[in-house]
Amino acid sequence: MKKIFIFFIFICFFTSAEARQKQNFDADWSFVLADSVQMSSPQYNDGRWRKLNLPHDWSIEGDFNENNPSGAGGGALPGGVGWYRKHFEINEKDKSSRFYVHFDGVYMNSTVYINGHKLGNRPYGFSSFEYDITPFLKVNGENIIAVRVDNSKQPNCRWYSGSGIYRHVYLLKTNSLRISNWGTFVKTESVTDKKAILKVDVRLSNSIRKSVRVQVTNSLLGADGKTLAKSSQTVMVPGSSDKVLNQQTITLENPKLWYVDNPYTYKIKTDITDGHKQIDSYITTIGIRSFKFDVHTGFYLNGKPMKIKGVCNHHDLGCLGAAINEDALHRQLLMLKNMGCNSIRCSHNPPAPELLNMCDTMGFIVMDEAFDMWHRKKTQYDYSQYFDKWFERDLTDMVIRDRNHPSVFIWSIGNEVLEQWSDASSDTLSIEQANLILNFGHSSSTLSQNREMSVNSMLTKRLADIVKSLDDSRPVTAACNESSPNNHLFKSGALDLIGYNYHNQNAKDVPVNFPGKPFIFTESVSAFATRDYYQMPSDSVIKAPKQWWLPYTDPSFMCSSYDNCRASWGNLHEETWDLIKHTPFISGEYIWTGFDYIGEPTPYGFPARSSYFGIIDLAGFPKDIYYMYQSEWTNKQVLHLFPHWNWIPGQKIDMWCYYNNADEVELYINGISQGIRRKDTDHQYHVMWPVIFQPGNVTVVARKLGKEIGRQTINTAGAPDHIRLISDRSSLKADGKSLAFVTVEIVDKDGNVCPNADNQVFFTVQGSAKIAGVDNGNQTSMERFKANNRKAFFGKCLVVLQSTSTSGTIQLTAKSVDLKDGMITLTNK
Ligand code: GAL
Repeated sequence: MKKIFIFFIFICFFTSAEARQKQNFDADWSFVLADSVQMSSPQYNDGRWRKLNLPHDWSIEGDFNENNPSGAGGGALPGGVGWYRKHFEINEKDKSSRFYVHFDGVYMNSTVYINGHKLGNRPYGFSSFEYDITPFLKVNGENIIAVRVDNSKQPNCRWYSGSGIYRHVYLLKTNSLRISNWGTFVKTESVTDKKAILKVDVRLSNSIRKSVRVQVTNSLLGADGKTLAKSSQTVMVPGSSDKVLNQQTITLENPKLWYVDNPYTYKIKTDITDGHKQIDSYITTIGIRSFKFDVHTGFYLNGKPMKIKGVCNHHDLGCLGAAINEDALHRQLLMLKNMGCNSIRCSHNPPAPELLNMCDTMGFIVMDEAFDMWHRKKTQYDYSQYFDKWFERDLTDMVIRDRNHPSVFIWSIGNEVLEQWSDASSDTLSIEQANLILNFGHSSSTLSQNREMSVNSMLTKRLADIVKSLDDSRPVTAACNESSPNNHLFKSGALDLIGYNYHNQNAKDVPVNFPGKPFIFTESVSAFATRDYYQMPSDSVIKAPKQWWLPYTDPSFMCSSYDNCRASWGNLHEETWDLIKHTPFISGEYIWTGFDYIGEPTPYGFPARSSYFGIIDLAGFPKDIYYMYQSEWTNKQVLHLFPHWNWIPGQKIDMWCYYNNADEVELYINGISQGIRRKDTDHQYHVMWPVIFQPGNVTVVARKLGKEIGRQTINTAGAPDHIRLISDRSSLKADGKSLAFVTVEIVDKDGNVCPNADNQVFFTVQGSAKIAGVDNGNQTSMERFKANNRKAFFGKCLVVLQSTSTSGTIQLTAKSVDLKDGMITLTNK
């Protein structure tokens, strides 16, 4: 029966007339968290292993524990060695085809076997890679892919990495002559409103000994699929070769340009034929745009000035861990888009391909980054130990994989690498110390002293040269936290774009120190906040800790949400944006970070286990500062009053308001005016009223030309009464992957959110979905992410539902002691 089923799948995937077939290979893997050399063997019995579908991250399923070797900095979740196996069959009729297995990412140190033959090993957990499995395949028999994943030696990452085959896997079938992996490169040679000239390189691989003559045709397709231009050539492909064999030029009249708010994409369809028969066919999505970084006036997209309003993000998706899920990623990007963010820095590693696809079509520009370290380590077992052997391959693969994406604008060859200095070495540091020391503790004697190129400068040049040899259409930068021009990386002269991490105070010297070079804040801010937690007085700034080498021991394990708490090397949100907004030569910034992420819980240690840096918390609930950016970065009407209105009668409270498009805002407590406030200068981003709390309500009214244009009221919430469930969508796709994010609120009898509620909420799901994860944004919660219950945190928590592949209804019920149930019905279709 099983054989018949597998055969049927292959009929579906492999008997179409297409020359190339790419099959998603995520389904039906077996997994075990154990290790034995025998597990690669075809004879090994994996019958009792757990069955699962990829992408998968085993760390996220574990318990937080201080003794996990990842440490709090790595999220305090377990690592280890795991094996995955998949059984599959190849149809007799495909015996002359070639087969490749393609991994988008495995963290880390993967070794892949097919039918017991070792295909290769890939240490860097963020690279994508492919193996040719053809020589080892059995036609009409069972084939077994086995993957060993070794994430046992930790710490190897300064943040949570996740463990396992955490990105998609594909099986690719082609003819023996094919377009190579990532084998097309479409470059916009020149572009005006009237005309675009595109250069298309095609790399062909011929796995038979005989030379073959083929026709290479590139068609440019509009978004509607219509062919707009075409170019064709005949080439001779030598036997057993893999190289760029064809370069063609395509001209397009009146191109539609790619903008962040109108990201028009075209496709290049590359067809290979032998005169009669189609041999291969491949689609490359592209966008046509021009851009420049001006030394004096910053960034321009298609001739128009534009500040880069970016955020840095790590790759985890909160309670789903590192396992890529398109709905979860899309939700993140949508929230950032709505905030006015127009750019993403993939810190500090190549992202999942889906992120770039979404940035292409949603309109984000991307800074694509290769490494967090080079030769010098930041944590004990990190990539530095593989760097010498692998950097060329990993960097090359990132550029070749990503260079067609219209969203990619900047290549970064590294983040805060210790090669900036001569003697920096963190060999003895813990992950927490490494995170702290990055920005401090380097004497000027460790900078470049003379005119000669140091080894570190030469390495910088080598990396930049690799990128340039593959793509000279984008600037190369490195994110530097040593602002001196004697930084070995800057000294190399190889960086096109000067990138500072922090050091706002030194930005003014950039034009003098780096004449002729454009500038961007590759990383900025590093302020802290726990959603809905407030420390007053709101205008006194908490440097956490006071000096970087001191511990920060606030017993709350929380950080204030008034934009008044920051790392000692960082800056507040408002002051950073003020500098960037008013300094024309600064091209923009990448705020550390858009979302809270697992790991690096600076300024605290365990039991804190996720970050405080996000504009949005780990569960995806915006912190107040989200609305400051929205008021500055969008034209949407913003009126955001905070904090909540449940305090002790007589307590002094600072009420803040972010607003835009209004002349003034007035605050009322129980109907009595507390005064009008205006943002009097272009350097002011919020207004504030110090008030005395009395139960009832607080209202802010916004006016323009004397007319009310907006109003927001916050009531004092009464006792928790019931649970309210709000889903971000009403229906899911019955594909087993689709997600609904359900916000769970503890509310009083009138529906006001109870801001101090921390009730434990229990979930049951009936019908066609299961719980994919739960969270509440609390950086110190020790509750599992994979569970059917969660404590509310400041009145809220989150449950993520994942569809099954059967259509039908989904009913989610939420229960808690002494509260009326919450219930919601969704459909799965
Ligand atoms: C930077 C570093 C980031 C993160 C951040 C925290 O130095 O590039 O990865 O550690 O500090 O403030």
